[in-house]
Amino acid sequence: MTAWAEGILEKIIHKISAESNRVGGKIPYWTKNGRYEEDYGTKDISWWTNGFWCGILWQMYHETGEEKYRRQAEAAEERLDRAFAEFTGLHHDAGFMWLHSAVADYRLTGSEKSRIRGLKAASVLAGRFNPAGGFLKAWNPSCVGEGEDCTGWTIVDSMMNIPLLYWASGETGDPRFSHIAKIHADTVLRCLVREDGSCGHIACLDPETGEFLGTQGGQGYGEGSSWSRGQAWILYGFALSYRYTGRQAYLDAAKRTAHYFAANAALTDFLPLCDFRQPGTPDVRDASAGVCAACGFLEIAEHVPEGERGLYREWGEKLLRAAENVCSWDLDRDSILQKCRVAYHGGRETDLIYGDYFLLEGVLRLLRRGFLIW
Ligand code: GLY
Repeated sequence: MTAWAEGILEKIIHKISAESNRVGGKIPYWTKNGRYEEDYGTKDISWWTNGFWCGILWQMYHETGEEKYRRQAEAAEERLDRAFAEFTGLHHDAGFMWLHSAVADYRLTGSEKSRIRGLKAASVLAGRFNPAGGFLKAWNPSCVGEGEDCTGWTIVDSMMNIPLLYWASGETGDPRFSHIAKIHADTVLRCLVREDGSCGHIACLDPETGEFLGTQGGQGYGEGSSWSRGQAWILYGFALSYRYTGRQAYLDAAKRTAHYFAANAALTDFLPLCDFRQPGTPDVRDASAGVCAACGFLEIAEHVPEGERGLYREWGEKLLRAAENVCSWDLDRDSILQKCRVAYHGGRETDLIYGDYFLLEGVLRLLRRGFLIW
């Protein structure tokens, strides 16, 4: 395993080094004509994926010690300040945006400015908490379809954002952030995780009374289906909540959803379908779900007894090896992981910046290197 992981890491480093010379402090999301032509720092400063390039750069800086990565990450992080200033575009993905940028910077360099950015982002996220129902509100009206009201919605993706709240409590000594994270995680567990380890994407609650009204399929195939990236968010998210709280129910949820994920991914040689309950044709895959889940499996491995550890590491490795089959190593093209999907409906097969982030994190985790961004 180590030789394989060392080999792919070398290829990743080579490719990102070439890319970063072209991209620098711009903020990429996906490629057009094989290049990161669009800069989301100008196109949409509050876009939810705007932290992942920083995350890649900080992991690269940690791994190689090369200053260029640090400089580029700092430049991109500073640009995100405009999202704070504009404020109205901010959403539940504040964790994805600032854990990978400011908090990672603070963790590696001790920058006070970055620490403050992290605390601001945590306050934005905590401000979305609705005590009636005990949940963090998802999205904003501009993100959902016409005629839809997301005031009472919460989604599985949020589980990857609440580590920002645990971090803020650890940093300030004020438990309010972490209380919110735990109440929210309990609501997600109650409303979105099913008995068999599958999960829904969107839970709808009455924002006045907190009553649970039902679920929606969101980015998956439909109501009652099982969107694979959402499955990855939930298994990794609960494993991280266990890391910060030690609550057994969270580790149990992470394991249950992980077993469900592994059983389904095995049916397609570990390159996951976009939705585990989609129709037989067309054969829609989402490689980003596989690499994200791989990181979650490797996180779970850190919290289970020795005898169980090998199983989770094996599943994590299988997912990463399957992802390698859809990687591009062409140094003239930006992006590594191909065959990703934003959602089951609409859209197209594409690369996505977070696919590359989780690929890098997963390989580093397999080698027991890297640093914890979450
Ligand atoms: N957080 C949105 C997504 O996973 O596409």
